[in-house]
Amino acid sequence: MKIFLDTANVKEIREAAGWGILDGVTTNPSLVAKEGRDFLEVVREICAIVPGPVSAEVVSTTADEMIKEGRDILRRVGAPNVVIKIPMIREGLRAIKTLSSEGVKINTTLIFSPSQALLAAKAGAAMVSPFVGRLDDISQVGMEIVRDIRTIFDNYDFKCEILAASIRHPVHVVEAARMGADIATLPFAVLEALIKHPLTDIGLQKFLKDWEKMPQQARKA
Ligand code: G3P
Repeated sequence: MKIFLDTANVKEIREAAGWGILDGVTTNPSLVAKEGRDFLEVVREICAIVPGPVSAEVVSTTADEMIKEGRDILRRVGAPNVVIKIPMIREGLRAIKTLSSEGVKINTTLIFSPSQALLAAKAGAAMVSPFVGRLDDISQVGMEIVRDIRTIFDNYDFKCEILAASIRHPVHVVEAARMGADIATLPFAVLEALIKHPLTDIGLQKFLKDWEKMPQQARKA
């Protein structure tokens, strides 16, 4: 499973990229607004750090405007790894169809049901983003739609990738991998939490303490 960071914070992206496990980045208007920086400048900077796909979201709501905005983002960012994020609304489908026919990679966002994912894939999206945590928030088990989408895409051999989004904790990440999601996009705090285990820290402390007890001479190779 590929691991993306769900952030527009360049410091976090640089840090995770340095760990050698970062495959891409997703942003959304809320995450970009939080940084208080110029949208296109941030996307350009992220694209230069991460060689994998970087999602930049449109904020228009009519098909014609979304198509224009998507083309505009691509032209002005000028990086080969930009993916245009389009919301799963009626007008979005036409925008996905048109842009994907031009070879633009589309990440369909705000997916909350398997039927929405099916339509996005049929329209030509390269990725669908089911929002797992937001479904959990309203008492629906979000991960179940990841499982259903996996079954549907496998039934018909859709090449569209399942990008598990709105991930809130490490268990979501492990479940996404078990369900066969192609990608999980994580907030930086969740990525950090994946590394940690108290028994690893306790075990390391013990190894180092025991090593210190060895005579200096015996420690040398
Ligand atoms: O990529 C979409 C994701 O950022 C939404 O996450 O935590 O706002 O539901 P959240």
